Parts: sequence; C-alpha cells; structure tokens
Amino acid sequence: MNAWTLLPRASTVAGDYDALFGFLTVVSGIMTVLIAAAVVTFAVRYRRRSENDPPPKQIHGSWVLETTWSVIPLLIMLVMFAWGARLYFQSYAGIPENTLDIFVTGKQWMWKLQHPAGNAEINELHIPAGRPVKLILASEDVIHSFFVPAFRLKHDVVPGSYQTFWFVATTPGRYHLFCAEYCGRSHSDMVGWVTVLTPAEYENWLSTGSAGAISPAKAGAELFQRFGCAACHLTEAQGRCPSLRYVFGRPVPLEDGRTVMADEAYIRESILVPNAKIVKGYPRDVMPSFQGQIDEAGLMQLIAYIKSLSTSSEAGQ
Ligand code: CUA
Repeated sequence: MNAWTLLPRASTVAGDYDALFGFLTVVSGIMTVLIAAAVVTFAVRYRRRSENDPPPKQIHGSWVLETTWSVIPLLIMLVMFAWGARLYFQSYAGIPENTLDIFVTGKQWMWKLQHPAGNAEINELHIPAGRPVKLILASEDVIHSFFVPAFRLKHDVVPGSYQTFWFVATTPGRYHLFCAEYCGRSHSDMVGWVTVLTPAEYENWLSTGSAGAISPAKAGAELFQRFGCAACHLTEAQGRCPSLRYVFGRPVPLEDGRTVMADEAYIRESILVPNAKIVKGYPRDVMPSFQGQIDEAGLMQLIAYIKSLSTSSEAGQ
C-alpha cells in the first residue's frame, strides 16, 4: 500500500506514475495557495475604504514582471511534458521480445481473456510476476477501457482496431480490474480481478486449467483451412499472394513504397480490408474481405496461428 495514493503498487511503472502524480499535485497545490493568498491579500489591502477614495494610480506593464511570470511556469510545464512523455513512451513503445501475449476482448458487459497456451478466462486474469505481459485489446461492440489501478495502467478498448500495451507485474496478489469507460447499462458490473502469481504458480495454473483447452494457434489453423486461406498463403507458387511463413514480427515492404511491421493490427486489417496495404509485387483485388464473417475471437485465433508460422518448428510443417 502506498501512503500517497492509497493503492498497492504492483507494476514496474507504478512508482514512476506516482512520482509524476505527486509532482503535479504539489505544483498545483503550491500555485493554488499562492494565488488564493494573493487574491485575499490584495482584496483586503487595496479595498475602497470610503466613498471619497480617489481612483488608484494606473500601472502600465512591466517587462521584468511579465517575463518572470511567463518563463517560470513555462519551465515547470516543460518538466511535466518531458516527464509525462518519457513515461508514455516507456509504456507504449519499445515492446520487449518474448512477451506473454494475452488477447483481451471487451463486450457488453464482460472481459474475455485468452492465454496463448489455450486457457481462457472471463473477468479474471492470471499472469506471472516479473515477466513482460503484452495485452492486445479488442472490442466486440462499444468503447470500453481496461483499467488496473494497482498497475497504474488504463487503456481504451476500441471497436474495429487493436490497442496494444505492455507491463511487468511485480508483486503477487489479487488486484481490481475495472472498465473505465461508460459503456451502457451494466458498465458498473464490468469488473474483475487480476491475479499475479509467481512464475512457478503460473505454470502450475496453466497446466491445471487447460484440460481440453485448444490453443488459439491450433483453432486458428482450423479456421485458416476452413476460410480457404491455406490454398494461397502457405506457398508462393502461384505468385498471387504472399506466403505467411516467417512474416509475423518482421517488416513488410508495400506496393506504395511504405514499410509496415507485421503485427497483430496489420494482420487484422489485411483480413478485413485486404486492399488497405498491398505487399510489394502482388496484385490488388485478389483477396476477398472477411469483414462480418469472422468475429474478434476468430480473428485472434487466426493471428495466433499466423504468429506461430514465424517460429521455425510450426513453420516447417
Ligand atoms: Cu465496458 Cu464500461
């Protein structure tokens, strides 16, 4: 429990966020006291004492004064900006390798969480301490927001796209999970728990909970066959569509000269809007859109399968 925020600190960034929050609060507090004191002092000191008081002498500006009260706040604001930007990029850029990737789907009114090993949970998330966890957030309907106060992490979950962020939980325990975006009648019921386990406990949890669970990659392989993706995307023989082996996590050159990273968002878009990003050297309008045919869970499984095609053991099959 942290005395300042009255919240446990359970992620590597929690202390940094508390420090920034503390700085903002102290600066705001000092400014509030200074301004209130000046207002009261001047109101009392320069009040009109009688009907006969002459009007006060007018003052016409002071360069020194105005420069001082502009430059000092500017410097303080720049410190806030730089500090905030550093924390922001820590959480949203530079995703480390070997993250534990968990798919989170928000829908009215529950959280569905899918582990790569196959375990699925609702309104409960089990993760190991000390390992980077990447959340890939999707919504089936409206905007939700994934909020774990103990981690000091909150991220909107937006329909029609993937949002991604990562964190490292530090302290085993059980922490509140909230939806922090008003999303309809039962928004207040869209709550759950994040349980941080030691790595050994997590392995144990995975093995006890996964009886009969099919990994998303395996389910995705089935969809890959069923939707006819395999006919085109596992070989380059026809030259009509790019092979998806060893694509995930690598840069892809596009027909229009740009280069994109083959991440979850790129694969998702290519399934739903195939013409949005055409790979260099391939024709347009070959692949049909699968918009409306695959739900978020199916998309997530296909992506897990395509991801598995980039690891040598599966790709060789
Ligand atoms: Cu989901 Cu509020």
